[in-house]
Amino acid sequence: MSGDTRDGPGAISRRDLLKAAGVATVAVGLGGDPARASGRSPGSIAFHGVHQAGVTTPQQARLVFAAFDVTAMSRSDLRALLVRWSTTAADLCAGRPAATLVHARSQAPTDSGEAAGLGAAGLTLTFGLGPGVFDERFGLASARPAPLADLPPFAGDQLDPRLTGGDLCVQACADDPQVAEHAVRNLARLADGAAVLRWQQHGFISRPADGGTPRNMLGFKDGTNNLDAGDEARMRANVWAAADSSPAWMLGGTYLVARRIRNFVEHWDSSSLAEQERSIGRRKASGAPLGARQEDDPVDPRRLPPDAHIIVANPRTGAASERERILRRGYGFADGLDPLTSLRRGDDGSAVEGLQDSGLMFLAFQQDPRRQFVTIQARLAASDHLDEYLAHVGSGIFAIPPGVPGRGGYIGQTLLG
Ligand code: HEM
Repeated sequence: MSGDTRDGPGAISRRDLLKAAGVATVAVGLGGDPARASGRSPGSIAFHGVHQAGVTTPQQARLVFAAFDVTAMSRSDLRALLVRWSTTAADLCAGRPAATLVHARSQAPTDSGEAAGLGAAGLTLTFGLGPGVFDERFGLASARPAPLADLPPFAGDQLDPRLTGGDLCVQACADDPQVAEHAVRNLARLADGAAVLRWQQHGFISRPADGGTPRNMLGFKDGTNNLDAGDEARMRANVWAAADSSPAWMLGGTYLVARRIRNFVEHWDSSSLAEQERSIGRRKASGAPLGARQEDDPVDPRRLPPDAHIIVANPRTGAASERERILRRGYGFADGLDPLTSLRRGDDGSAVEGLQDSGLMFLAFQQDPRRQFVTIQARLAASDHLDEYLAHVGSGIFAIPPGVPGRGGYIGQTLLG
């Protein structure tokens, strides 16, 4: 048995993962391993740690993202929900069923059952607190972190209220779609009486067999110049909450910006290769920046159109650009046809030309969205050539509190006491 935490392409060494997560509690595969000893299934990623898992831990193949509205009206009921969620999340991430459904009225099985026998599948559950937690309901307004500012409107936004906002979020990632789905479903059951589902997004990302950079729904390699989640100094500078902008209760945490971005794939697929490549600023096949040869070659802005996506996203103006950089951890989606934008054809309107509802569930972790996402997105909305091919239709911003150190602790404990 090697020291890998998980098998298959993209598996990283255990040491690297420990380094990346900054957490000394990651399970390994076989006999004698701490996962077995603690009752966790092989392939599990520990729920407990300094930071929440699902930020710098390796990206799994599947996403179920869920945003909730809190219906509880008291701080103690909100706290009780986060306690229930944290206890159950530790079980689910260890590959155990949900065992803590507390509602007396329910004679239903405590776990819905569809993940039985599937193991942990690398499940991570990452919880976030939206702006609504800090409104008048819970007396927490003075604890609201300044970086959790409401996102401003951006030019071209087509936000659908049914895909926007949320008082709480759960990002469930796993290598098995049913495991991620099961986790959100059982957390939603547990929320009964305290929170209701507001919107949800499923996603996927497939790693090529050669272990190379995955491709997004535009067919381009996505993540080439992402931050390195294993670079601790970089995570401290750009991702983890900092004492000069965040309250003490957020230290060890981070901020998540979620955007459901529709890609107009029909329009994109009928555009020339040259147009596609100048929109992104990279070659489609190799991922090399225009004017260079290899994917990892440095980007020379003088050799790219100024409105190419990678230049507008990162103008490479030195320290200021470096401070803006974010940790992207998004997933593709393909949700069938969009009935609203699909076209009716023929005199009687009976024939339909369906338009695909595909795109990117953009998820990015950062130290301060005011300095990072908002600055970048304001530029992209004003002058990104790629804009013609996409529309932001959903949005959310969440404070991701620090990790839960161990059993008995809960998400948000540093805030709620
Ligand atoms: C559907 C929408 C989007 C698509 C298809 C897309 C696609 C891509 C691709 C193909 C790359 C080049 C490979 C890489 O370095 O990862 C890239 C880079 C990047 N994108 Fe996007 N992107 C989208 C939206 C956004 C948004 C909303 C933001 C932030 C507000 C963003 C920020 C970045 C950044 C920072 C880079 C790296 C630039 C660099 O340093 O070279 N992207 N994107």
